[in-house]
Amino acid sequence: MAHLQQSAALQIEEICSRYVNEETPLMMILSDIQKEYGYIPLEVQELVSEKTGISVAEIYGVVTFYSFFSLKPKGKNVIGCCLGTACYVKGAQQVVDKFSEILGIKPGETTDDGLFTIDALRCIGACGIAPAVQINGTVYPKMSVDQVPALIEKYRNGGNA
Ligand code: FES
Repeated sequence: MAHLQQSAALQIEEICSRYVNEETPLMMILSDIQKEYGYIPLEVQELVSEKTGISVAEIYGVVTFYSFFSLKPKGKNVIGCCLGTACYVKGAQQVVDKFSEILGIKPGETTDDGLFTIDALRCIGACGIAPAVQINGTVYPKMSVDQVPALIEKYRNGGNA
């Protein structure tokens, strides 16, 4: 969406129109756009502002506050590392650091080849199997630093190795 194409603009207008009767439509609109396109760049925020009358500052504030929303395209494989309390006390920080070390990116960043994004998450509801990592929707329980290299290789090879 670097230059918002006509078709994308129409689709975003359609998403905005779904919630015209809602009192507070912003979260629903942004969720639909995030799901549809995988990210919400500034030009899209400006279009949403134009269509809804909500200021760009408010929209930007919401997009940057919630980790579910993203300003940039995410990688093919999104590695969500839980850093909630239960995971943290069981060594989640070391697990995130290992992903960062091998991939050469920090949480919130995407590798240059577009293969991996690391996300730091709050509790994902899997505290009983902490520390938990979620990749493309699959949850990996009781992760240890030693398991990280093989997991990266698995997804580098399409997730089937
Ligand atoms: S704190 Fe990680 S799953 Fe709850």
